[in-house]
Amino acid sequence: MYAQLGLGCWSFAPGYREEFSASDSVQTIHAAVRSGIRHFDTAQVYGKGRSEQLAGQQLRRFRRKTPREELSLATKIFVTPNLTPRGFASRFETSLNRLCTSYLDVCYIHWPIQHYDFRPLLEVLQSFREAGKLRHIGLSNFPPDMIYTLSCFCEISYVQDAYSLLWRRPEDELLPLCRSLGIRFAAYSVLAQGLLARTPYPPQDWRSSLVFCRPEVRSRLGELLDAYRLKVSSYGLTPAQAALLWAAAAKGVHTVLIGSRTKQQLLHLTEVYGQKLPEELEEYLEEFSLRCGELLPAEEGNIFCRRW
Ligand SMILES: NC(=O)c1ccc[n+]([C@@H]2O[C@H](COP(=O)([O-])OP(=O)(O)OC[C@H]3O[C@@H](n4cnc5c(N)ncnc54)[C@H](OP(=O)(O)O)[C@@H]3O)[C@@H](O)[C@H]2O)c1
Repeated sequence: MYAQLGLGCWSFAPGYREEFSASDSVQTIHAAVRSGIRHFDTAQVYGKGRSEQLAGQQLRRFRRKTPREELSLATKIFVTPNLTPRGFASRFETSLNRLCTSYLDVCYIHWPIQHYDFRPLLEVLQSFREAGKLRHIGLSNFPPDMIYTLSCFCEISYVQDAYSLLWRRPEDELLPLCRSLGIRFAAYSVLAQGLLARTPYPPQDWRSSLVFCRPEVRSRLGELLDAYRLKVSSYGLTPAQAALLWAAAAKGVHTVLIGSRTKQQLLHLTEVYGQKLPEELEEYLEEFSLRCGELLPAEEGNIFCRRW
């Protein structure tokens, strides 16, 4: 199975990169629709709602040629322990407004919280589903045991987590669980937030706090990445393209979210999307990714080194 391509909208708001440009964001969304991308992923916390707003307003401009039913819109709601079901419901309605739509295709709870009862919030999402305001309920960054428990309570249709040549942890438990429960897996950071596409992040960039930049990992990983860039170029692919093609063909991945910030970055990826990697390169990537994985600290459960 080859994954569907979705556009991640995190960078379409200030806060993601210093170099935020609204006109780049608009052009990227327009280029995505024109290249046939139909799944768009955003979140309430991206630019405090500005990403949802920009995506909603731009996608609305295509309504005549690309009606709402042809699009799949996903957003995520960030939960804090004191958020009431009523407050949660009101946030959901806010997302509908910002995205200029009467229903969402997927609404994820963005991050888990330890020892927190999510069932009242899932009941809210179920009521929206029954009212036709939501098609699918999703969980993002949740560990497998919580996903399993919550899926016994209500139908979970999507799970979203990081997955890339550099981060294959979902293969241990998460992907098998999703397969066994019939849950669609949406992969984010398939370019490892750009590390698989370019030279290392500048030191002042917040991405320097990702697990890949830990002092004990950085230099050895840097060497492996240099070799990777050379290798894939001998097959006529750029590092970003090879990383995307690998993730899109990976077993159990339903959707790959690309985080392209500019139209050029997006077209660079869509131009090869759908291609199959040569078998020899696949073998190399398998070995490369396992060696990268061995460098990463086992105790980190996510690429952001985030405790929750
Ligand atoms: N659920 C969650 O917690 C979560 C977490 C992360 C992401 N996501 C979702 O997944 C989406 C994608 O994630 P991501 O931003 O981590 O994705 P990514 O695709 O791994 O990284 C995006 C970065 O890669 C670089 N890039 C993209 N296309 C490129 C190209 N063709 N050539 C060279 N560099 C390229 C850019 O870096 P530069 O900016 O340096 O140019 C861009 O900012 C997000 O927008 C969001 O919707 C969800």
